[in-house]
Amino acid sequence: MSTETVTDILSHREGGVLTLTFNRLDKKNAITTAMYAALAAALDATANDDSVRVAVIQGDLSCFTAGNDLADFLDNPPDMSPDAEPAPVVRFLNAIKAWPKPLVAAVAGPAVGIGTTLLLHCDLVYAGDNAAFSMPFVNLGLCPEAGASLLLTQLVGYPRAAEKLMLGEAFYAEEALEMGLVNRVLPPQEVNGYAQAQAAKLAAKPLASLKATKQLMKMSLPAQLNPVMSAELQQFGTLLRGPAAKEAINAVMQKRKPDFSNC
Ligand code: COA
Repeated sequence: MSTETVTDILSHREGGVLTLTFNRLDKKNAITTAMYAALAAALDATANDDSVRVAVIQGDLSCFTAGNDLADFLDNPPDMSPDAEPAPVVRFLNAIKAWPKPLVAAVAGPAVGIGTTLLLHCDLVYAGDNAAFSMPFVNLGLCPEAGASLLLTQLVGYPRAAEKLMLGEAFYAEEALEMGLVNRVLPPQEVNGYAQAQAAKLAAKPLASLKATKQLMKMSLPAQLNPVMSAELQQFGTLLRGPAAKEAINAVMQKRKPDFSNC
């Protein structure tokens, strides 16, 4: 068993389960560049290490994550052009997309932006009845990421995906369960424990069979997903530097309504 604090991500290994915990509650677990780098490094380091058989991503029982750190978006926007060195957020997205073993998420409280889209790459998702999912990319002058344009549409159909992605309004645990984004809804104080118990069950199963099952289930995906993710990143990087994103992000940080009349 080992526990390590990597910036605001806690990394804990026990019994074949790697648990990565958002640990920046004073900022609602908003994810900084350093946190993406820590998450990507932990996943990349264990992807081919058979002593880790399952990974769990979790937050606190009051908050999963408020998504990308908004100050980081303004001060340190990632370069997402195709020939740039992959930014930590891109490395993280690639890591969850390619993780060859079961990936489990435990979500309680808000799961904003990438806090919701990362779930589309998880194999099992457990949610507290206080979970609030949202993908407010358009409201921030941005566009979807993490392949959500494709994966959400495949999961819930075009009209519902368009509603979630274009209006960006929060939806809650029961709806997430009904639409197939989560496997089960539990009291918030039970979510992380339940996810750990499911992860422990998976860790006791034959790893080669788990890997083969995941690989087969996702076999046809990369041909569609890779170009969509690349296109999303390019658009996202451009929009992030545009006037609507600057206005929207400043407005959120200043707790005022955005003015898109010039955007
Ligand atoms: N980036 C940076 N800081 C953030 C943040 C983010 N994404 N989300 C919250 N915070 C900070 C707030 O600025 C505040 O900091 P302060 O105490 O220094 O003023 C602190 O976290 C608490 O946030 P607050 O809004 O008061 O908490 P809440 O419980 O009322 O609401 C959220 C929680 C998650 C619903 C709300 O904070 C929110 O909507 N955040 C923005 C989410 C977002 O747009 N993310 C980007 C997605 S692409």
